[in-house]
Amino acid sequence: MIPQSFIHDVLNRTEIVDVIDSHVALKKAGVNYSACCPFHKEKTPSFTVSPVKQFYHCFGCKAHGNAIGFLMEYSGMSFVDAVADLATRVGMQVPIQQADNHPAETEFGPPNYPPEIDYESNNSISSNDLFEIMMRATKFYRVQLKQSEQAINYLKKRGLTGETASHFALGYAPDGWQNLEAIFPDYQSTASENTLLKTGLIVASDDGKYYDRFRDRIMFPILNQKGMVVGFGGRVLGQSEPKYLNSPETILFTKGRELYNLFAARRAIRQAGCVLVVEGYMDVVALYQHGIEYTVASLGTATTPDHIQKLLRQTDNIIFCFDGDNAGRKAAWRAMENSLPFLTDGKNLSFLFLPDGEDPDSYVSANGKEDFEALLKHHAVALSIFLFQTLSTNLDLQTSEGRAKLVRDAKPLLKHVTAPILGLMLLQRLAELSGVSQDELQNLLQIKRTTPIKKHPKLARPKPTTPYHWLIQILLYKPGYINQLTEFIITENGEASEEIATLNVLIDFLNNHPHITDGGAISTVSTYFNDSQHRELLEKIESETLEWDDAIDLESEFSGALAKIKEIQRKKRMTTLHNKSLNILTNEEKQELKQLSMPK
Ligand code: UTP
Ligand code: MN
Repeated sequence: MIPQSFIHDVLNRTEIVDVIDSHVALKKAGVNYSACCPFHKEKTPSFTVSPVKQFYHCFGCKAHGNAIGFLMEYSGMSFVDAVADLATRVGMQVPIQQADNHPAETEFGPPNYPPEIDYESNNSISSNDLFEIMMRATKFYRVQLKQSEQAINYLKKRGLTGETASHFALGYAPDGWQNLEAIFPDYQSTASENTLLKTGLIVASDDGKYYDRFRDRIMFPILNQKGMVVGFGGRVLGQSEPKYLNSPETILFTKGRELYNLFAARRAIRQAGCVLVVEGYMDVVALYQHGIEYTVASLGTATTPDHIQKLLRQTDNIIFCFDGDNAGRKAAWRAMENSLPFLTDGKNLSFLFLPDGEDPDSYVSANGKEDFEALLKHHAVALSIFLFQTLSTNLDLQTSEGRAKLVRDAKPLLKHVTAPILGLMLLQRLAELSGVSQDELQNLLQIKRTTPIKKHPKLARPKPTTPYHWLIQILLYKPGYINQLTEFIITENGEASEEIATLNVLIDFLNNHPHITDGGAISTVSTYFNDSQHRELLEKIESETLEWDDAIDLESEFSGALAKIKEIQRKKRMTTLHNKSLNILTNEEKQELKQLSMPK
């Protein structure tokens, strides 16, 4: 038996887009992702995955569910195996629960499902929980920072305020070999069960003892996309080497997948309409302090295809900011090469090279936000320019040898471009530079160009047919609205009776499962109704919210639906009362009728 709180935690830490994407290649489509449905045969994608609500839905075959459901349906796993699989992905271990301690069976879904939050029983798994260890270490380092004059002075010297340090949860790993022993009693426990070792926070020495990996360093916690600490970067205060020490690759942490600050910068990235990719932790931190918050950093590695895909899921515009020196240009080239296969038309990559000897930190600290953003605006060069500029360096395009080499060098790059319009533009530019016609180039490069695929026009949101249906949509999208539905009972039957019955069951369910409505948890409510007769309708209505995003004014939707329902109820009640003859009405009923007839 798996504790329900555990299932809940696993789901909360799981990114369904990544889970599904590792089986079925997903493409971004508006706020969601889509693919041809893996559960039925089709030519145009109607399988949709919502990163906001963490569920999938197929408009063709109506397959529907959360990450657990996907693994069960797609890989044929049992419920328990699916949970275990997801747990491993996020670095958790399924705890074994004592038999006398299992949670009550619930009405819906597989046994032990839905997960009930039970924070008490959570404690029993925490020693196994790598995330919990990372969180405890983060807190420890933060406390140490507050107590170290030397570390505080270092940050001050670098111009950081306390607010900035606390925004990034910066800390300090004190000097000494076994400081973490103070907060992890099983620090020296040997061999395989030492979870501390698995987090990379400690290192084994030759004599079989363990010691702290990070000593006398400023600590930068690295968060994954769910906001959990998965690693650290540690900077020396002085001059010793290495300047930055990073967590090793662990179950939690893969350098080539994580980006520093992506979690916290999401909103700013959306607002700015672009993301700025820089090289260093301190660049991100300094830019933030100067009011530029849409920044992420790769973690001492080249920009990987994974990074690019992650970023392109967040925004259409990526600006890479590199040093102007040779190393910076090389890094930019790598980033560009890795991006080409993932670019679709409408996605833009550009590159900003800073003046020699400057990095974003030094530049923004000396010149301020406006100046830096002006650089971004006026001096970032588009991918096509950067590509040909770099290829043409050291070539003499006046000679046919030079032009031939340009075509040769461009060939492998252009072959990777799948975006039709971008491909065409690059081909045009190459034709201009090389003096070879586009037709000839296409032959030479053996590039097949397909015509751009027409985008489906965005459908206007269909209005729900009844206000009950409307209210179900809202409650499924944001279960927290249940708290504003006090003393709300819908008794009518007759027309829309299925919707009313479903709405009542949903209201009842939400009222009895406050953990779903606390706003913190991402819950796909319909999965709780697996064996319920209302399941089909709930899944259908849930799928209608797939296109919803921040632009939807939920407040007015909610009050709109509510007002409509109240109006219908008022009319019904009036009719009922009118149908009784006046002399049968009690005094209260007469009073009520008067009230109901009054214009609002
Ligand atoms: P830089 O050497 O440019 O450092 O490394 P920086 O960001 O300007 O740092 P400050 O301003 O001196 O504090 C850029 C990035 O490369 C990685 C780190 O991620 C760093 O932020 N790096 C650098 C390492 O991982 N290890 C190193 O020893 C040095
Ligand atoms: Mn720097």
